[in-house]
Amino acid sequence: MEFVNTEQAAYWAGRAKSWSAQEAVHDRVIGPAGRMAMERLDPRPGQVLVDLGCGTGQTTVELARRVGPGGQVVGVDIAAAMFERARQHLGDAGVGNVELVHADVQSTNLGQGRFDGAYSRFGVMFFSDPVAAFSNVHASLKSGAALSFACWQPLQANDWMSVPAQAAIAVLDVVPEMPAPDAPGPFALAEPEAMRRVLDAAGFCDIDIAFHDDFLMAPETGISEMADAALQVGAVQRMLENADPKTVELARQAIVDALESRLVNAEVALSRAFLLVRAVA
Ligand SMILES: C[S@@+](CC[C@H](N)C(=O)[O-])C[C@H]1O[C@@H](n2cnc3c(N)ncnc32)[C@H](O)[C@@H]1O
Repeated sequence: MEFVNTEQAAYWAGRAKSWSAQEAVHDRVIGPAGRMAMERLDPRPGQVLVDLGCGTGQTTVELARRVGPGGQVVGVDIAAAMFERARQHLGDAGVGNVELVHADVQSTNLGQGRFDGAYSRFGVMFFSDPVAAFSNVHASLKSGAALSFACWQPLQANDWMSVPAQAAIAVLDVVPEMPAPDAPGPFALAEPEAMRRVLDAAGFCDIDIAFHDDFLMAPETGISEMADAALQVGAVQRMLENADPKTVELARQAIVDALESRLVNAEVALSRAFLLVRAVA
């Protein structure tokens, strides 16, 4: 089946190199949410699981360890370029029970009643038709199997994203157009009641949405790499897509300054807020 999210496919293919190189920074930001979502899935030895939007496969490897050699994990991603790093992780971890599949979760048949569970760490907010996508996930699950994922709460609750974005906006002196609240992107599932309606329409029951708010603590020594990562993905990357190198450098410096202005005892505290979602097929 053809991919329907072609814009996202191109976008993430373009991010694969930097996402792989900056994996450690991303993992500090999204790692805790991923671990919490995994606990809520509670993978068991022998299970067959799917990791939706698996990217470079850090969570796929962990799922594979949890299900053991008697189980299997299918990592699905719309950007095959992410799999280069994923294959390295699989080799390093010595896990042989993973299949990486280049597919659009929304439009590719993932199998019917095949999986004992579905998981995602911030990989399910990029669908042009979320009901179609989650219906497809639902169809791929055995009856009674769980879906567990993490997704972002709104931008205003996530200083770690809004502080760099505001710094870049000040340099460019343009306010970027805000996408519609349900447009594919990091905040597409940020409104819990709207998300509940999507999952309900896709056939899921026992929908449990938990709020998690905390602070991302970044050491002073990590500010520079945080600024570099902000330039490569999300709102800041899109804003600077066609900017000349001088403007990019000015934006980078503005981001560093904004983060440094928040230093207390050699650390920056940035709000971070996500949702942990669990539902049953
Ligand atoms: C924010 S990244 C998260 C990657 C990975 N889950 C992690 O935690 O490192 C989002 C991932 O979702 C993938 N993605 C976006 N839309 C997708 C779709 N329709 N089907 C499959 N994967 C998709 C992207 O290619 C990207 O790898």
